[in-house]
Amino acid sequence: MPTAAADPEWRRAEALRQALHHHAWRYYVLDDPEIPDIEYDRLLAELQAIEARHPDWVTPDSPTQRVGGRPLEGFDPVRHRVPMLSIRTETDTEAGAALAFDARIRKELALGPDDPPVVYVAEPKFDGLAIGLLYEHGLLVRAATRGDGETGEDVTQNIRTIAQIPLRLRGAGTGIARLEVRGEVYMRRDDFEALNERQRARGDKTFVNPRNAAAGAVRQLDPAVTASRPLSFFAYGVGEWPSGLGDGPEGGTHWQVLQALRDWGFPVSDLVRRCAGGEALAAYHRDIGACRDALPFDIDGVVYKVDRLDWQRVLGFVTREPRWAIAHKFPAQEQLTRVLAIDVQVGRTGKLTPVAKLEPVFVGGVTVTNATLHNADEVARKDVRVGDTVIVRRAGDVIPEVVAVAPPLPQPRGEPFVMPSACPVCGSAVVREADEVDHRCSGGLYCPAQRKQAILHFAQRRAMDIEGLGEKLVDQLVDGNVVRGVADLYRLGLSSLVGLDRMADKSASNVLAAIEASKSTTLARFLFGLGIRHVGESTARDLARHFGRLDAIMDASMQDLLSVPDVGPVVANSIHTFFAQPHNREVVEQLRASGVHWPEHDGEARAEPLPLSGKTFVLTGTLPTLTREDAKARIEAAGGKVAGSVSRKTDWVVAGEAAGSKLDKARELGVAILDEAGLIALLDDPGAISPGSDSGRG
Ligand code: IVH
Repeated sequence: MPTAAADPEWRRAEALRQALHHHAWRYYVLDDPEIPDIEYDRLLAELQAIEARHPDWVTPDSPTQRVGGRPLEGFDPVRHRVPMLSIRTETDTEAGAALAFDARIRKELALGPDDPPVVYVAEPKFDGLAIGLLYEHGLLVRAATRGDGETGEDVTQNIRTIAQIPLRLRGAGTGIARLEVRGEVYMRRDDFEALNERQRARGDKTFVNPRNAAAGAVRQLDPAVTASRPLSFFAYGVGEWPSGLGDGPEGGTHWQVLQALRDWGFPVSDLVRRCAGGEALAAYHRDIGACRDALPFDIDGVVYKVDRLDWQRVLGFVTREPRWAIAHKFPAQEQLTRVLAIDVQVGRTGKLTPVAKLEPVFVGGVTVTNATLHNADEVARKDVRVGDTVIVRRAGDVIPEVVAVAPPLPQPRGEPFVMPSACPVCGSAVVREADEVDHRCSGGLYCPAQRKQAILHFAQRRAMDIEGLGEKLVDQLVDGNVVRGVADLYRLGLSSLVGLDRMADKSASNVLAAIEASKSTTLARFLFGLGIRHVGESTARDLARHFGRLDAIMDASMQDLLSVPDVGPVVANSIHTFFAQPHNREVVEQLRASGVHWPEHDGEARAEPLPLSGKTFVLTGTLPTLTREDAKARIEAAGGKVAGSVSRKTDWVVAGEAAGSKLDKARELGVAILDEAGLIALLDDPGAISPGSDSGRG
């Protein structure tokens, strides 16, 4: 288009497209943006305005075209030029499967005992759905599901809405005539939980697991619906090969393929490892298994792949599976079991939660006997009844839940569940406010269940940290009327504890010592411990930082509260109402009179900015003396932030014993590394060390 290309506005549009692709990659793939969101939005709006004036200038890969097109009638079939194979799965979750795979590969490659170990690439097995992405001259032209491996469905419109998938390849990728990238579309657990929350709030059907939610989103006929579902992507291989890649004299490796995919702009998991020999594969299976619950997404195993591509070719295929790769499973995160009863639990705020009592079942690595049913509407929607067989899911640190009833239904079936009209613990009336999904006990602190939960909340590690004050003890203290509220804890003596079930002299004095120790705390922990509705740990920290003194918070007006970052009307109202109640003020006074104290200051508005504000830390490994919580608390008290993963934004990585991939990543990115002594020195004198000067172990 020679005339348009000469137009400065046309050139501006192209420059904007390039900039937007770059910033989207920084944001969605690297998780390391260079510009604030608002600036990105401004660039996008500018491009949209130009394209609105010149509709014929819109390119298919324009960042404005992620959600284009109208709903489809159906999906067209796509024949895969290179079949999308499945992979042999070892369900034996023990290390043996890794060793057996290595032994088989060595045999098939005719390697002797003196030959060096075979190098593999080990990867997580992502639990989503396989997608093939076809790029021509660097542009995404088609995306297809796996289907039966030979023929899949054309889901291009929907896949384009996934921000982590490049519409245009980066760097050398643009020079490749034809390239098919393969990978997994999945949904992160937090995105899945939030999606189900939204579905529940709207009275819509919830999804059983992130995989089903992702598969459902990809197979929507209306791309606008897909765009509203938060999907993510990992690339793990290449289907159709660009000539040249992997055909060189050295034959190339899968590891290089993954590196190339990163360079072209795809997210590749940083959990992939190169492993030499079967023992290393087994260790990888163990390591990933151990951190599985902490990952932000579901995986159902790991995949081992022979690294050398020429060896992959030699090994070839058996029927529809490659001989050079296997999947090695982890214990399932979903199981079938039977509902023995549906109980109703009363929480700290009076919320009633129906809980299914289950025939014990091993799921996600632990034995589960209870699973939440969330609320009455959920039980009704899923129509769960006593005697039914149900699917139970436990993934990550999310509490186990009943996700669906599994056929066949027993005949006759049990009665439908009804929420009791009186609190099962204190007998007070159960209320359900308009627009609320939850039923609540109206008993307040008259209700022993609410009191118990309030005490447990106050005593928990992240609040007042009273070790040894667990459920069993709190049950006895409240049931025996020894403790009615949190203030009573500080009046306990040895005589009131000794004699209780499982309370010998020694454990009783330990509990008393822990109660005594808890008196010295921080304002943020104390505030969080009070259990004010909507005031979680991070809000409590914000409030403490902003106001500095408890009295300032207790006397704050709505206006004052609303000036705290991230505090909106609902939260502000909840805090204001809490401290407007004389009873709550009295509890606070009693606690202070018992000697509960914390350092106070004049509040951030007036104070100097904290020495580490704006600085981001990542903790890895075990520190010699500080627990992770302590280290985090001390960094945050100095104004710093603790993040979960290392990126270029990280200012310091604090590494202890057995530090893992985060330390490697820090070295790779040149992020400053501290040991515990270095961290303490920094906290004592923030000016003395800057991220540029390598102190500690570095
Ligand atoms: S490689 C020829 N790598 O597992 C080998 N598959 O393959 C082709 N999957 O539904 C697959 N994570 O979508 C490979 N890191 C990974 C994977 C992975 C998940 C899925 C894949 C397919 C199934 C069997």
